[in-house]
Order: sequence, then C-alpha cells, then structure tokens
Amino acid sequence: MRIAVIGSVMIDLVSYADKIPEAGETKEADDFFINCGGKGANQAIAAAKSGADVMMIAKVGDDMFGKTAMRNFSQYNVDTAYVTKVPGVGSGMAAILVDASAQNRILIYKGANLHLQPADIEKSAEALKKCSLLILQLEIPLETVCTAIEFAGANNIPILLNPAPACKELPVETACKCDFFVPNETELAILTGMPVSTDDEILAASEKLIKQGMKNVIVTMGEKGSLWMDAKHCEKIAPFKVVPVDTTGAGDAFIGSFAASYVEKRDIPLSMRRGSAFAAMSVMKKGAQISFPVKEELEDFIQADN
Ligand code: RIB
Ligand code: NA
Repeated sequence: MRIAVIGSVMIDLVSYADKIPEAGETKEADDFFINCGGKGANQAIAAAKSGADVMMIAKVGDDMFGKTAMRNFSQYNVDTAYVTKVPGVGSGMAAILVDASAQNRILIYKGANLHLQPADIEKSAEALKKCSLLILQLEIPLETVCTAIEFAGANNIPILLNPAPACKELPVETACKCDFFVPNETELAILTGMPVSTDDEILAASEKLIKQGMKNVIVTMGEKGSLWMDAKHCEKIAPFKVVPVDTTGAGDAFIGSFAASYVEKRDIPLSMRRGSAFAAMSVMKKGAQISFPVKEELEDFIQADN
C-alpha cells in the first residue's frame, strides 16, 4: 500500500506581517523562518505523518538546502532512493508572505525541480509499479507529469492529480486519465473556464469535468470544506472550524492525509474527512510541513469533534 509522490521540493522563506507591502513599499516583518516546503514534498510528508509508506521522486539542488530537504525526508521515513541532486543547480525556493488574516502570497523559483524529466519516470518504473497510488502536482515540468500519467495508466496504477499551481496548459484529456482530480476553486475555474464563486457554480464546474470523463473530482474549498463528485455521487464534507494562523500547504496537508487513508480504507468520504481534519490542524500553526500533526494528534482532534 505504498504511495509514490512525483513532485517538487522547495525551501520556504516565510515572513509574517499584519499587512503585506505594496509595490515600492518596505515594511518590517513580525516573524520569519526558513523551512521545508514544495507541494510534492508537503504531500509526501503529510502522507507519511498520517501513517503511510511513502516514496518520493524528485530533484533537489546542489546546495545546503538540498541537503536539508534530504534530511527532512529521512526524518519522516520517506524513501528517497529516487530523489537526486542536480549538479551545479540551486534548490527550488518559495518566498512566502503571510498577512494577519492568514492569507499568503507565494513566489516560487523552481530551480532543481525543472530538472525532473520524463526519463526519471522510466528510471523509477519498477519501483512505481509496486505502488498503490501515484500523487502528482504541477511544480515540475508538465511533460514529466504527462509522462507519469501515461505510465501509470498503462500499468493500472491509480493516480491523484493536484493541478497546482494553476496551469492553463494542462490538457483536459490528460487530467481525465487520473482517478482523482483534486483542485481548489481557482484551479477548477482555470481548467473549466467557468465561474466558481457560489456553491452552485462549483457544482456546475465539477459536473462539466465529470461529463468530460473525469472519474472523481474532489474540490478543496478551505474554510468551506470539500466536495466530492463522481458519475453517481455528489457529497459535501463539512469543514472543521478552526482559527487560521497560516494556510500555506493546507491543500497539500489534505491531499497527503486523504491519500494515506484512502490506500488503506478505500473509502472516499471518510478519507476526505481525515484529510480535512489534518488540514484544519495545519492552518492553526505557522509554516507548511512543520505545522502538520502526527497521527496520534490527528486521532485526538477527530475524536474531540465527534
Ligand atoms: O502548497 C504550498 C507550497 O507551495 C509551499 O510550501 C511552497 O513551497 C509552494 O511550493
Ligand atoms: Na500551517
């Protein structure tokens, strides 16, 4: 029941301030730190902390940050046999600004992540064939994502695609080959070209994807909870109400934890509820991965809500 995450590794440089500076303005931050991030790595760590056996396929930079990221994976028992260093290239970096309302603005520099090529999917083919779920996002070259989807399809490996950050070039036909398509509202709007400001609009956009051939669409809607749709079901999972401090990586938290539960229990609504609890716990603390709970904390939190 191994999960493979093919994706990005970044180092997050996070600043916190009441108000984010406008163009040409300088402000002083209330807090700052450097920690491990990247959508791929965040999802891998979230799955591992939720109890899954996880393998990562990624590229890190030839610098101290690459070493930090490698150590971080080992600490959480994520298999790094297919995480390699790119000689002479820097690690992926994310400059993140978080304001008092816990909203973030993120500027990423992909660095070494751009070197994760279709050939790397071939190199890890045998290991991938032993996995029960493959998780992908869009912080690596689109070509690599498409190759991975083709490969997984040909080998009957279920795929979860998180189309983040939003990318207009993602072909709908490719996305339709995935078993789980997990966008947030913005990503859903970009892929469908439809508005998503009301519940009805979100339903209509999701329905369009199902009609185009998508198997399961799971929309993460932050404090509004999440929505699952397939050809026969449409179910809304209520959010866990918490006071947010930093929402960075909340979507990643949901996905990793959902995946860990799904490979074990094969129950979509139940796994969404667990993902939702895990994500809610993460937004109550600063940072992405460092704010993720461990399995015992997650169980207590879910129990307390019952
Ligand atoms: O999804 C959150 C992540 O996006 C951050 O950790 C940052 O690294 C960016 O890639
Ligand atoms: Na957080």
